[in-house]
Amino acid sequence: MFRSRVWLFGGTFGAWLCWFCLLSGADGQILHPDEVSALRAIKQSLVDPNRNLSNWNRGDPCMSNWTGVLCFNTPAADGYLHVRELQLLHMNLSGTLSPELGRLSYMQILDVMWNQISGSIPKEIGNITSLELLLLNGNQLTGSLPEELGYLPNLDRIQIDQNQISGSLPRSFAYLNKTKHFHMNNNSISGQIPPELSVLPSLVHMLLDNNNLSGYLPPELANLPSLLILQLDNNHFDGTTIPPSYSNMSHLLKLSLRNCGLQGPIPDLSRIPGLAYIDLSLNQLNGSIPPEKLPVNMTTIDLSYNNLVGTIPTSFSGLPLLQKLLLANNSLNGSVPSIIWQNRSSSKPEILVVDLQNNNLTNISGSTNLPPNVTVRLQGNPICSNTNLVQFCSTPTQSISRIQGSANSSEVCPVQSCPYEYAPSSPVPCFCAAPLLVGYRLKSPGFTEFLPYKYQFEVYLTDGLDLEIFQLYIDSFIWEEGPRLKMYLKFFPVYIGNTTSYVFNKTEVLRIRSMFTGWHIPDSDIFGPYELLNFTLWGPYLDVIPLSSKSGISKGALAGIVLGAVAGAVILSAVISLIILRLLLRKQQAVSKRRQLSKSTVKIDGVKDFTYGELALATNNFDASAQVGQGGYGKVYKGTLADGTVVAIKRAQEGSLQGEKEFLTEIELLSRLHHRNLVSLLGYCDEESEQMLVYEFMPNGTLRDHLSGKSKDPMGFAMRTRIALGSAKGILYLHTEADPPIFHRDIKASNILLDSRMNAKVADFGLSRLAPVPDLEGTTPGHVSTVVKGTPGYLDPEYFLTHKLTDKSDVYSLGVVFLELLTGMHPISHGKNIVREVNTAYRSGTIFSVIDDRMGAYPAECVERFINLALNCCQEETEARPSMAEVVRELETIWGMMPELDSKTTESFSTHPGKVMSPSSSVLSDVNPRSAPYVSGDISGSDLVSGVVPTITPR
Ligand SMILES: *[C@@H]1O[C@H](CO)[C@@H](O)[C@H](O)[C@H]1NC(C)=O
Ligand SMILES: *[C@@H]1O[C@H](CO)[C@@H](O)[C@H](O)[C@H]1NC(C)=O
Ligand SMILES: *[C@@H]1O[C@H](CO)[C@@H](O)[C@H](O)[C@H]1NC(C)=O
Ligand SMILES: *[C@@H]1O[C@H](CO)[C@@H](O)[C@H](O)[C@H]1NC(C)=O
Repeated sequence: MFRSRVWLFGGTFGAWLCWFCLLSGADGQILHPDEVSALRAIKQSLVDPNRNLSNWNRGDPCMSNWTGVLCFNTPAADGYLHVRELQLLHMNLSGTLSPELGRLSYMQILDVMWNQISGSIPKEIGNITSLELLLLNGNQLTGSLPEELGYLPNLDRIQIDQNQISGSLPRSFAYLNKTKHFHMNNNSISGQIPPELSVLPSLVHMLLDNNNLSGYLPPELANLPSLLILQLDNNHFDGTTIPPSYSNMSHLLKLSLRNCGLQGPIPDLSRIPGLAYIDLSLNQLNGSIPPEKLPVNMTTIDLSYNNLVGTIPTSFSGLPLLQKLLLANNSLNGSVPSIIWQNRSSSKPEILVVDLQNNNLTNISGSTNLPPNVTVRLQGNPICSNTNLVQFCSTPTQSISRIQGSANSSEVCPVQSCPYEYAPSSPVPCFCAAPLLVGYRLKSPGFTEFLPYKYQFEVYLTDGLDLEIFQLYIDSFIWEEGPRLKMYLKFFPVYIGNTTSYVFNKTEVLRIRSMFTGWHIPDSDIFGPYELLNFTLWGPYLDVIPLSSKSGISKGALAGIVLGAVAGAVILSAVISLIILRLLLRKQQAVSKRRQLSKSTVKIDGVKDFTYGELALATNNFDASAQVGQGGYGKVYKGTLADGTVVAIKRAQEGSLQGEKEFLTEIELLSRLHHRNLVSLLGYCDEESEQMLVYEFMPNGTLRDHLSGKSKDPMGFAMRTRIALGSAKGILYLHTEADPPIFHRDIKASNILLDSRMNAKVADFGLSRLAPVPDLEGTTPGHVSTVVKGTPGYLDPEYFLTHKLTDKSDVYSLGVVFLELLTGMHPISHGKNIVREVNTAYRSGTIFSVIDDRMGAYPAECVERFINLALNCCQEETEARPSMAEVVRELETIWGMMPELDSKTTESFSTHPGKVMSPSSSVLSDVNPRSAPYVSGDISGSDLVSGVVPTITPR
């Protein structure tokens, strides 16, 4: 591969050289020297672990493709080129922002979003008078906002949200008379909102939620002529009121003042024609709800958790777009006017939730029939003593919406023959294409239910991007705190009948990307501001990236050159390159065919041989948000395969790579292990410099996570015993049934995973070695001598001393897991070893003081027997420990001793959790059928992939 590139280069070197001299030789077509040194300083102060900026050292930044540096096409009056954009989005950069940024004085876009940059915002940025977009969100910036930023006459957008900025809002921001977007939420900005800001003529979105702002709400903000969104939730305007002037905000669409410590009455907001969304919840607002009819576009009204009195106005009826009317936890009385939900249009029944819990409501006026898709919650009101109203008074169940998948297309189209994805909505059936993957978030949408707006959104976004609507596929979406709506989008190329149409061409990729990064997609009222979380270039797009000064060479200049003197040479070189490329391609195809052949001869039954591309696609190109764990072998990702299967992917890191033969031998071994208490291997990937193992995904995460209290429902004793028994059975299988037998060697609570029914499955045979096999004479060597591996706290002390590995080493480690199950402690914490601690408590007769009290009630004699077993497993002398078979037997006995055995066989327990038990059985009360599945790792990222959308209740 490498050699062929050199050849190509060599073959056309002369021609390229001519090009190059010509381009950089053209008078002054280079970056201004001040800016070159500024860029070097900027790189100096950043930390760049992924070496994204490694090419920032050779040649001219504009002419030699420095990553993320985009220059103007033509020289300025000074004869030099200048930097137009710095695009360093999502590059895992840390370090600080250099003050030298101020010397990029022609720059229009500064984008360092979603890195880990710390330090303060350099005041010198205030020197860049041409700056239009200042995008610093999603870093760890500290310090205060430099007042100099207020003197940026062309600033359109200032995004510093999700940092740790403190200090107050500079009054100088009142000069930002072109700025449309103030996105400063989720920082620690304090002090009074300067009333001076009310003169900003262009301000559209003011997002200052989740800060430490105090003082009062300036009445003057009502004068902001263009304001659409005022979002100030979670600040401390304690004891002040909502200014009556806010009734006159002419363009307002959304007013969100949740949890701001506000008192006094709710102003009449009925005269704001476009108003769609009000959230005033979690304050101490009092008085009654204004009776005036709210504007017709209302989607969301949240006045819950206040001190409101009086009755519910009938004027909440006749709002056709209403999704949420939340008035819970007030002191409202009288009757509930059912007219609010009765006259909903029946042709298009959209979801409406009316939450009136915990008030003093006494009856329903009008019909008590509920139309489809309407939920009314009344529990906690006197009305619920009426037994006829159960449908209004039961505990709410969580509703889960699912986005319609592309299931039909993948069912019809042959999965194996598409290395990318079938474009779900392409008019051409089974069009296999490589999508662009975009992480996207609506920061402050004007609704709380997305599905009624999904189509409108697709039209809006594809219109804005100048794409066909069928090119967009919303892979999944999830509501996050805010509420913000995070989505994972895929954009597919259009099939135009030739073989290259499965990918977007480079120009198109760059165009679409710059639409997002330059905020060229027009604003939408209802969808509000958006933010770009990532724009993943993967697989066929990896080469596209320059993200740099390609645009530095103007098309005009290029054309001129090509038509000029060297046209002949260029064309000649292009022809030569093409011919060579052809030859190379043919050669490569031959090579890859041979490779495939050699692979298929070692095909392993029952497991799939995945390509790198398939797994990259499944994990959004191994995006950090898909990572759910990290082990000795490498990182673990959650992924969704093209057919929808959710999998865990273990990707070997450098240093864990094995030779192909060893790797395949291991796979072969693992592929033969099948037990209900072992995590199944589904497939693998073995390509140059990549080795990955693909396992079934365990939605309930690791036992360690559950014991650490990360899960909301602590497990009871019965559940813990069942997990212990399952784990022991899985390991017994490895010791006795696997052929050849396997010692696990790294049993620990984080290697015991829980499936959707809380069945224990033992994972990670990465450290396994083949157990000793009887030699020809029939004598079994008792141990395998190896270097000590394993995890501190779980290590058999004898193995540690002698390096002799036996099946009893696994017994010891499992004993430690048992002690964790019983006590909730860590194997080692604050220098204390769990085995020693429990032994001490046991001997001093205080054993029940160390039992995890989150278990609730438990049968004492079972717990005692379990502790005995655990401590026996952890005996220092190997001989004194029980065998794994004995461990299983004893756990089965304990399980059998538990109350209500007759109705709880293991099967029914796992298949119908919670159903088979009488409510009085405290022992089993932990098996909660409603307990939400727990996903370890980054919940937002991983949940996103599954496409399950938990409906949030905006608080
Ligand atoms: C810039 O990138 C393009 C395409 O990636 C490449 O063809 C060109 O040679 C690069 N220029 C230099 C000077 O490296
Ligand atoms: C840049 O900013 C600094 C500090 O804000 C100021 O002293 C300096 O004069 C500015 N330089 C230019 C060229 O505007
Ligand atoms: C914005 O401010 C500048 C200088 O402060 C002034 O010249 C300009 O007219 C203002 N523009 C608007 C639209 O108010
Ligand atoms: C209501 O919403 C629609 C669609 O977003 C919009 O076109 C219309 O102007 C809005 N009505 C008012 C009174 O603002």
